[in-house]
Amino acid sequence: MKALVLSGGSGTRLRPFTHSMPKQLIPIANKPVLEHVLASVGSLGVTEVGVVVGDRGRQIADVLGDGSRFGLRLTFIEQDEPRGLAHAVAVARDFLGDDDFVMYLGDNMLPDGIAEMAEQFTAHRPATQVVVHKVEDPRCFGVAEIDPDGRVLQLVEKPLEPRSDLAVIGVYFFTPAIHEAVAAIEPSARGELEITDAIQWLVEAGADVRAAEYGGYWKDTGHAEHVLDCNRRLLDGITHSVTGDVDAASELIGPVVVEQGARVTASRIEGPVIVGAGSVIENSHLGPYTSIGRDNVLRGAGIAHSITLDGARVSHVRGLHGSLIGRFATIGACDGGSTHRLVVGDDTFVEVAV
Ligand code: G1P
Repeated sequence: MKALVLSGGSGTRLRPFTHSMPKQLIPIANKPVLEHVLASVGSLGVTEVGVVVGDRGRQIADVLGDGSRFGLRLTFIEQDEPRGLAHAVAVARDFLGDDDFVMYLGDNMLPDGIAEMAEQFTAHRPATQVVVHKVEDPRCFGVAEIDPDGRVLQLVEKPLEPRSDLAVIGVYFFTPAIHEAVAAIEPSARGELEITDAIQWLVEAGADVRAAEYGGYWKDTGHAEHVLDCNRRLLDGITHSVTGDVDAASELIGPVVVEQGARVTASRIEGPVIVGAGSVIENSHLGPYTSIGRDNVLRGAGIAHSITLDGARVSHVRGLHGSLIGRFATIGACDGGSTHRLVVGDDTFVEVAV
């Protein structure tokens, strides 16, 4: 089996981050989402992975390299524009050949693992096996109607009146039968070649299309709230490890990771927290549920339930909560008075206590 990881898409809901980086590189527990995805794919024993990239392909390739770090062989496949998930399958046609493959959306996190569903697919080898997950409001997803044996009766992309609460989530198992379906469908109303339509084409052609239900934690990390939530979920699983320097005046409570070259002085860290390599933390209160990126400088800071990306700086500002702070962003205090002074970039979101 091969894998196809989709990493195009414009990530509009994650602006301003996606003005300068692809959403798949947003760090969760200090590792880009895509690295979590590759680890998940690697755990299936897959080694050949096609990564479909758009105009931010260069950045993705720079971070992932050739994949040897993850025990994988990566092939980068360019998609000129985000023209839909089925279009991504079409552009990867040569790479995929006549192999079965797992397709994984590069912004989806399924930390409870997909091994069981992969085994199910390999054992029964239906033409397609989708992964479904119960959601409260299925209208913004592909929705599956299935029979008691898990056979898919109908798939509809973002229906106004869903016939079930089972959303199709970002992992799909395919045999090469999908290629004929992809070639047969037309673009949807949003102008994309929908994988949901291709799979529905197979259903209508009488092919065996199955659904496996994933009952674990799932997030599509296309939104800041989801990124923070997923960060909390992953931090819950960390083990205490300190390879950086922590002085005697600091207090670490619960699981805390202080990476190589990080320096913590006169601070209180309430885990779970990760402090990235090379960061400096002074007179600060971190956590719980916070990931500090690499080479940050936090002085007199108070931050909880948050993520900072590499190179961020916080000086003398406390009470930061549920925040996502971008690369080399600076947050500081004004001299006296009670004013707020902001230099805020495009599509940024700021909330201050009043
Ligand atoms: C895509 C699929 C949809 C699926 C969703 C899962 O939607 O088209 O069927 O439910 O991913 O994240 P999109 O994110 O392209 O709107």
